[in-house]
Amino acid sequence: MATGRGGFSSKLGVVLATAGSAVGLGNIWRFPYITGENGGGAFILLYLAVILFFGIPAMMAEFCIGKTAKANASKAFEIIAPGSKWYIVGLIGVIVAVIILGYYTVVTGWTLEYLFRSVLGDLQGKSVLEYSNMFDDFTADPVRPILWTAIVVFISYLIISKGVQNGIEKASKVMMPVLFIVLIILAIRSLMLPGAAAGMKFLFYPDFSKLTLQSLLDAVGQVFFSMSIGMGCMITYSSYFKKNVDLIKTSASVASIDTLVAIISAIVIFGTMFSFHMQPDEQGPGLVFKTLPNIFQQMSGGIVWALLFYILLFIASITSIISLLEVVIAYINETWHLSRIKSSRIVSAITVALGVLSALSFNLLSFVKIGGMGLFDFSDFITAKVLMPLGGIAMAIFIGWRMGREEVKNEITNMGKYPVAIYKIYMVLIRFVVPIGITAIFISSLLPH
Ligand code: TRP
Repeated sequence: MATGRGGFSSKLGVVLATAGSAVGLGNIWRFPYITGENGGGAFILLYLAVILFFGIPAMMAEFCIGKTAKANASKAFEIIAPGSKWYIVGLIGVIVAVIILGYYTVVTGWTLEYLFRSVLGDLQGKSVLEYSNMFDDFTADPVRPILWTAIVVFISYLIISKGVQNGIEKASKVMMPVLFIVLIILAIRSLMLPGAAAGMKFLFYPDFSKLTLQSLLDAVGQVFFSMSIGMGCMITYSSYFKKNVDLIKTSASVASIDTLVAIISAIVIFGTMFSFHMQPDEQGPGLVFKTLPNIFQQMSGGIVWALLFYILLFIASITSIISLLEVVIAYINETWHLSRIKSSRIVSAITVALGVLSALSFNLLSFVKIGGMGLFDFSDFITAKVLMPLGGIAMAIFIGWRMGREEVKNEITNMGKYPVAIYKIYMVLIRFVVPIGITAIFISSLLPH
C-alpha cells in the first residue's frame, strides 16, 4: 500500500518537516498578539498546560492514525474503520485546510510586501500614524495584496510539486535551521535593548486576574492552530513516516520546538515594544505590520532588523503553507486519482481564488459579514476556535474508543520500547481528558457571560 507514495527519508527530516508545519504565522504573528490580549504571563502558563494535556496527546493520536493507515486524512479513516462515517472527520479537515490557506497565504503575502519595502528603504522616516496608514492603505489596495498572494502560492507550488522527500523535506531541512538562527539573532538583539526587561516582566510574570473563560478557549484555539492539529495535517504528514519513527519522541520534539519558537518570538516582540514604551494590548493582528516597522526604524541598523524579521515570518509561513497544501494534494491525488502535479495545480488555483476573496475582504468585499465578522476574521474563528477543536475531539474519540487497542498500543509504545504504563496514561488522556476537557471549554465559552 505504501509503495509509490514516497515518504520522509530520515528522523531528522521527519522532525524538521513536521516542525516546519507547526512553526508559522501562528507562532510569530498570532501567539504574541493573543498573549498580549490575554494579559501576558498567566496566559503562557495556561498555554503550556493546554499543550501538555491536549496538544501532545492529540498530535500523537493523529500520528497514530496516519502512520497506521498510510493515506490522506480522509482515506486514513476509511482504511482503519471501513464502511463507517468516520471519513467525514478527515474530509472536514481537508476543507479546513482550504479555508486556512485562503487567508494564510494573504498574510504571507503581506510579509513579502514588507520584506521588499524594507529592502527599498521604505520602512524609514515615518511617523506612527504613517505606518498605521501605510498598512491600511496597502490592505485597502484591491490589486497589490493579491499579486503577493499569487507569488506566495507559486513559490509553495514549486516546492510541493517536487514531492514529499525532494520538496517538503528538503525545503524544511534548509529553511528551518535558517529560521532558528534568525530568530536567535533577533532575540539577542531585543534583549539588549534598554527597557526590554519590562517586556519580559509582562511576558513571564503571571497575573491570573487577567485570565477569563475566553482565555481558555483562546489557548485551545491557539494550541490547535499552532501545532497544526485537529484537521488531519498531522495524519497526512505521519502517513509519510517510516515504521521505526517514535511517536512520543517526535511529538515531544515538535511540541517543544513549536512552543520555544512561539515564546522566543514573543520575547522579540515584547522586548522590542516595551523598550520603546509601546503598549502590547489591543494591537491585535496589526502588531507586526503597524507597530514593529516604527520600532525597527528607531533602532540602530533598523533596516537590517526589519528585513531579518520579515524573512523570518516568510520562511516560517512557507513551510506551513506547504503542509496545508499537502493535506489537500494528498486527498485529491489519492481520492480522485489525479497525478501529484495535477493535484498540486488544482489546489494552488483554488488557494489563489480564495486568497483573492480574503484579500478583497479588506476593500471591495468589506461589506460581506458573517456573524458580524469579515470574511478574514470569520475564517480564522471558524477554523481555529470551532472546527479544529471539534476535529481534535473526534480524533481523540476515534483513537480512544474505535481503533484497535493492539495497534494503538504498538504505535504508542513504539513496538514495546516504552513501558505499558505510558500507554495506559495515554489512554486516560485520549479517552477522557482530551474529549471531555475540550468539550467543557467549548460549551462554557458559548454560554453568555
Ligand atoms: N501551525 C501553523 C502555524 O502555526 C499553521 C498551520 C500549518 C496549520 N498547517 C496547519 C494550522 C494545519 C492548522 C492546521 O502557523
